[in-house]
Amino acid sequence: MFFLDSSDPREITDIFAWGVVCGVTTNPLILAREAGNVDLQQRIREVLAASTGPVSVELTSETEGAMLEEAAVYHGWAPDRITIKVPFGEPGLRVTHSLARRGVATNVTCVMSFNQAYLATLAGCTYVSIFSGRVRDMGYDVRPVIAETRAQIDRERLGAKIIIGSVRHFMDVNEALAAGAHVVTVPPPILRKMLHNPKTDETIREFNNAWANRSQRGEAPHTPREGQS
Ligand code: E4P
Repeated sequence: MFFLDSSDPREITDIFAWGVVCGVTTNPLILAREAGNVDLQQRIREVLAASTGPVSVELTSETEGAMLEEAAVYHGWAPDRITIKVPFGEPGLRVTHSLARRGVATNVTCVMSFNQAYLATLAGCTYVSIFSGRVRDMGYDVRPVIAETRAQIDRERLGAKIIIGSVRHFMDVNEALAAGAHVVTVPPPILRKMLHNPKTDETIREFNNAWANRSQRGEAPHTPREGQS
C-alpha cells in the first residue's frame, strides 16, 4: 500500500481523493521545507483533517526522557491516528519499547540496514522505515535489506510492517514492493509521475479525437468495425 510523504494539506487532500493512499508520513525536514514557521500542532491538525489513516510525526529530542515527553504531546493530538516516528538508536529503541508496551503506534525511522530493522521490530515497533534513496546514496542495494527484513518478520511472525521511504524515482517504488515492502511512502511528485505513460496519453487522445470527429465522417457512434458483430 501507499502512504504519502508530505505535510502539505492541499497536496494531501488532492491525492487522497484518488483513493490510492491510506496514510501520511512527515519528518522534520519535510515540515521545515513545506511549513516553515507554521505551528507544528496546527499543521499536523490540518494534515489529519486532510487525510485518513495513520499520520507519522517524528521526535526531534535526543534523550529518552525528552523523547517520551515529546511523544506524549503528539500522541495526545489524535491517539488513534498519530504514529510516533522514532529515530533509530539506543534511546530510540528504549522509547519504542516503552511506547509499544503502552499500545502507542511507532514508526522507527532512518533505518539503513537489516540489523537495525531487526532490532526495531524486536523492540516492538508498529512500522520500520527503511530509507531506499539514502541506502543507495551510500552505494548499496536496498533490495536485500528489504527482502531479508520481510523474511525475518514473516519467519518470526513479528507484528511490524516495513515502510520504504526516501523514494526518489518510481522504479524505487516498484522495486520496494517486489522486494517485500508492506508500504511505500511516496512524495507527491513521484506519485503524479506514475499517472503518465506516453502511449496511454496518445491512445486516449486518439479515442477522444475519433469520438469528437465522428459526425464529420458520417459514422454512427457505435458502428462495429468490419469483421466484428
Ligand atoms: C519518510 O518517512 C522519510 O522521512 C522520507 O521519505 C525521507 O526522505 P529523504 O531521504 O528524501 O529525505
